[in-house]
Amino acid sequence: MNVRQSDDFPATDAHLAYTPEIARSTAPIYERVRGVIPEIEWPVHAPYVAAINELKRKRNAIILAHNYQTPEIFHGVADLTGDSLALARQAANTSAQVIVVCGVHFMAETAKLINPEKTVLIPDLEAGCSLAASITADDVRLLRERYPEVPVVSYVNTSAAVKAESDICCTSANALEVVESLETDRVIFLPDEYLGRYVASQTNVEIILWRGHCEVHERFTADELHVFRRQYPGVEILAHPECPPDVLAEADFVGSTSGMIRYVGESRPRRVVMVTECSMSDNVAVEYPDVEFVRPCNLCPHMKRITLPKILHSLATMTYGVEVEPDVAGRARRAVERMLAVGKKAGSRGVA
Ligand code: 13P
Ligand code: SF4
Repeated sequence: MNVRQSDDFPATDAHLAYTPEIARSTAPIYERVRGVIPEIEWPVHAPYVAAINELKRKRNAIILAHNYQTPEIFHGVADLTGDSLALARQAANTSAQVIVVCGVHFMAETAKLINPEKTVLIPDLEAGCSLAASITADDVRLLRERYPEVPVVSYVNTSAAVKAESDICCTSANALEVVESLETDRVIFLPDEYLGRYVASQTNVEIILWRGHCEVHERFTADELHVFRRQYPGVEILAHPECPPDVLAEADFVGSTSGMIRYVGESRPRRVVMVTECSMSDNVAVEYPDVEFVRPCNLCPHMKRITLPKILHSLATMTYGVEVEPDVAGRARRAVERMLAVGKKAGSRGVA
């Protein structure tokens, strides 16, 4: 790995002190997150928040953060936040020269596909995804042999090589819309079995499934949801469509991470539980202090690889640059752009 560090920027492993000046400059950020980050922790985060925000301006960089990033990243240094679809759209619209993706590898790859001429960085190359790891390009070619003429819809939680073998991509926010946009009787939907089953329950299109699962969402059970209802009377249950079908059947609302945030903003439930990754509730609670969040916690170990020190290191050394083989990139980009065009044509109807 070629790690480059410019002379213009300080060594990132040097101790970063919590000075009175840093306390002052980061105080407005801390005021926003004080409900979810204990005061005793802020002196650890604040020097990184200040250094990252300064360096990002010098680099003409923008930080995109997924909804599962921790609050000190999400509220402290991110310029743009959202679900996978929003991050892809925002990556398509930025004028910054450097894009730092605080999320997992497929998200950074998607940003690079859309911005081949820009520098796209991910602070930890090992930030993977169990869904993306569940299928290879060879698997897709075999599926095509088995089901000739049936279009392939790939969840964005896939490698660029898998996207390159696909007709179109989708996210959890637009999966139904994308499937129906193809105007066929059958589609191959991969790799998330549960998202595919959920889409199948909403459409007449026959869905041929792959058996990939999200290691975070597959752990939730319907019994857990029964316990929430008993222990927290009146609680509204929002679930991500990567959860198993019996969990989704128990939920009051099923949607992408941004769909869940929108639900809270529009419905203002008194009590809510978001059946998804841990950090979501912390990030949303900052915006809605009047809503009580019940917080079951399943961590995504891949998302949690991204930390403030790694983001600073990434910006200082311009690592780790995400590249996609040119012949793969062209075909993968087509599948992503086809998805983005569906959203533009049809508005925002979808899973949620
Ligand atoms: P969203 O597109 O809903 O943010 O989901 C991405 C993801 O990885 C969920 O586990
Ligand atoms: Fe992948 Fe699941 Fe983590 Fe999302 S939560 S990045 S689907 S492993």
